[in-house]
Parts: sequence; structure tokens; C-alpha cells
Amino acid sequence: MREGDGAYITTVEGHRLLDLNNNFTVNALGHNHPAVQEALRAAIETGVSFGNPVELETELAQLIVDRIESIEKVQFSCSASESNMSAIRLARAFTGRERIAKFEGGYHGFTDPLQISWHPDHDGDCGPDDEPKPMPDSAGIPSAEIANAVVLTQNDWEGTERILRAHADEVSCVVLELESASGGVVTLTREYVTRLRELTAELGIVLIVDETVTLRAGYHGMQSDYGIKPDLTVMGKIIGGGFPLGAVGGSAEIMDLLETGVVSISGTHHGHKIALIAGIATMRALTHEAFDRLNSMARRIMDEINEWAAARGSRFAIYGIGISHLAYGFMREPGLTIDTHRDYWRNFDDEATQACSLELANRGYFPVARGDFSLNLQMTDEDIAGFIETLKEIVAGIEA
Ligand SMILES: Cc1ncc(COP(=O)(O)O)c(C=O)c1O
Repeated sequence: MREGDGAYITTVEGHRLLDLNNNFTVNALGHNHPAVQEALRAAIETGVSFGNPVELETELAQLIVDRIESIEKVQFSCSASESNMSAIRLARAFTGRERIAKFEGGYHGFTDPLQISWHPDHDGDCGPDDEPKPMPDSAGIPSAEIANAVVLTQNDWEGTERILRAHADEVSCVVLELESASGGVVTLTREYVTRLRELTAELGIVLIVDETVTLRAGYHGMQSDYGIKPDLTVMGKIIGGGFPLGAVGGSAEIMDLLETGVVSISGTHHGHKIALIAGIATMRALTHEAFDRLNSMARRIMDEINEWAAARGSRFAIYGIGISHLAYGFMREPGLTIDTHRDYWRNFDDEATQACSLELANRGYFPVARGDFSLNLQMTDEDIAGFIETLKEIVAGIEA
């Protein structure tokens, strides 16, 4: 890419595209938002790196605490991968247990303990549907990390309860996304999440909700839509306003392990001034009305495409619950419900979906090629209408 302006990006060849990738959901305000630019210009004049905390950390932490009910204290890093690691270390120290439970299809960054069973090779032996086998997503992940993982199936309450009860004295935490962002958009049901909250509390397992992407759901995060209070929440993407920033926050009881030094986590660039200043300006611009606008654009795309696709018996569908990050794709048959990552991989037509993504890019719309997209606040109703019409034309062409 060469540059971004508003809702658009321009490639090095000079193609101007509506940015539906938004740096994998980071750019909720689009590019060069005036409030962010102004804050950055002022910040760059006064030194950027001090080897000491800056007051901006407190300011952004306070903003997060004010918005997200479960969070009493916050610690920043440079990425959500790092903050997920911090969350795990806290959970291990708090519980005195070492194993980590996560979901098949869940992505929590590239680190050894967590890049497991995100996109398992489904031709390999992934274990039964109700007891997935941990599968590394990369060469170089030590076998000890793989053995340490306990893998759960989304929305499978029976399996989840059986596995967690069986390993209760070893499992420190369950890490989850309420809506998995990059393993096909699979949404956990409210009932499932409520039960999981109750069971983890009963078993003394730390519940970590990774809201790196789902913080886009609204002012109070997606957890408030589910009415749950996780023990720890991991954040990233939008909170840095386009710069590298991650955060973990949660109950004072657990976060105080950092304050007392029982848990030690350090990082030269953690809580970097420039990321904080961009993050504060961005989060302030993300008002209730801004989230409503993002979500209403998403809802419009989802409703119009899905109604159109259903009426013509199309295999194409948009998945999600109407937050401003959605998945799309051709499935093996029309009208499928996707409850688990295996539902997704067994039914997803990767080739047709990739063809659709490529054709979108050819026609001026830049999604994530695997089949998802997010929205930004500088998009107009005309941009959205153009995207919907173009998508329909492409789908009809592929299915002709
Ligand atoms: C849900 C989720 N968690 C964690 C991460 C890792 O974030 P980062 O790339 O900032 O390390 C991502 C990145 O896409 C993500 O989608």
C-alpha cells in the first residue's frame, strides 16, 4: 500500500480501494482522522520515549475502566499477543495451575502457548468433535506447549463442562473470543457464555475474554452485550489508534499481582506515548453514536446481502452478529448455521470465497482475502451501497 485517505487506501500501482480491511479491524476511524492527527502532531514535539511511565497511560486506562465494567486496573503492552501472554502469566500466578484452555478456531496472537488449534490442519488427526486435540499452527512450537493446551469446541456445552471438570485442578484459565474474528466468524451463544462464566467461577479458573477485535461491538465492549464479567480482558487493535498497543485489564484482585511485584512483566516500549495519544484520541471519537453508526452499516450489509442470497438460494452468506466486523463466504450449501469452527471448515468453499475477494479488490473494494471485512467511520452510505451492489454482482457471477 502507498497511502490511506479517509475510508480509502491507494496501492503502489495507484489503485484506490475502499478499505474494508482496516488493518485487520484497527482503523475504526479510517485514515488520517483530524482529531488523531492533531493529537499526534502535538505529541511528537515533546519527546516520545522516556524509560518511565507517562500520565497518558493513566488517562487511557481510566477511559477503559470507565467503559468496561469488569475492568478495575489496566496494564499496557505493544500488542494483543503480548497482553494475552500477560493475562496467562497472571492466571497461572493467581491459580497456581499451568494449563491453558482455549477454543478450536480461536486466535490470540502468535505466541507458543496460544497459536495452537487456530487453523488446525483438518486433514490431520484433530480428535473428536467434542474433544479436539491440540494442534500447533506453526512449526517451532515446543511439544510441551502443545501438551499444555486444553482445546474446547465453541458452543458445545456438554463437551466443555466434561473437559473442564476433568482437568479442573490443572487449568489456570479459559481464553476465548465471544465472536472468533479470524477462524471464520463463529459467535458463542449467550447461554453458553453464561454457563462458562458460572463454571469457571465454580472451578476457580480465570476467565479471559479476548476483546482485541470485539471491542468494536460497542462502548462497553462485547462482554456487556453478553451480560458477563470476565476476570481478565485482553484488548488491542482500536485502543492504539493505528499504533502498536495492547492491554490487559481486570479485577483488582488479580491485577494487583502486578502492583505488588508477585508477577513481573516489563517492556521497553510498553505503554508507548505515541500509541497512547493516538489511542486516547481514537477512543474519545468512538462515542456511543459512533459505535451505533458502525454497527448500523454492518447490519445493513448483513441484512441486505443475506436476504438477497436467501431469496435466490445462494450458497453465499455473511456471518456475524452485526458488529462492524463480519465474515463472508460461499458455503457448501445454502442456509447453514455455523456454530463451531468445524462447521465452518467442513462447509467453507475457500476457492470460491478467495475468487470473490480477488474480484472485490479488482472492483475497488479491499476486504481480508480469507473472507472478512470491517468498517470505518469515514465510510458513507454511498460507499456501503456500492459495496453491497458490487458484492451481489460478483456472487451472481460466480454462481452463474
Ligand atoms: C482476537 C485477537 N487476539 C489477539 C490478536 C493478536 O494481536 P496483535 O497482532 O496485536 O498481537 C489478534 C490479532 O489479529 C486477534 O484478532
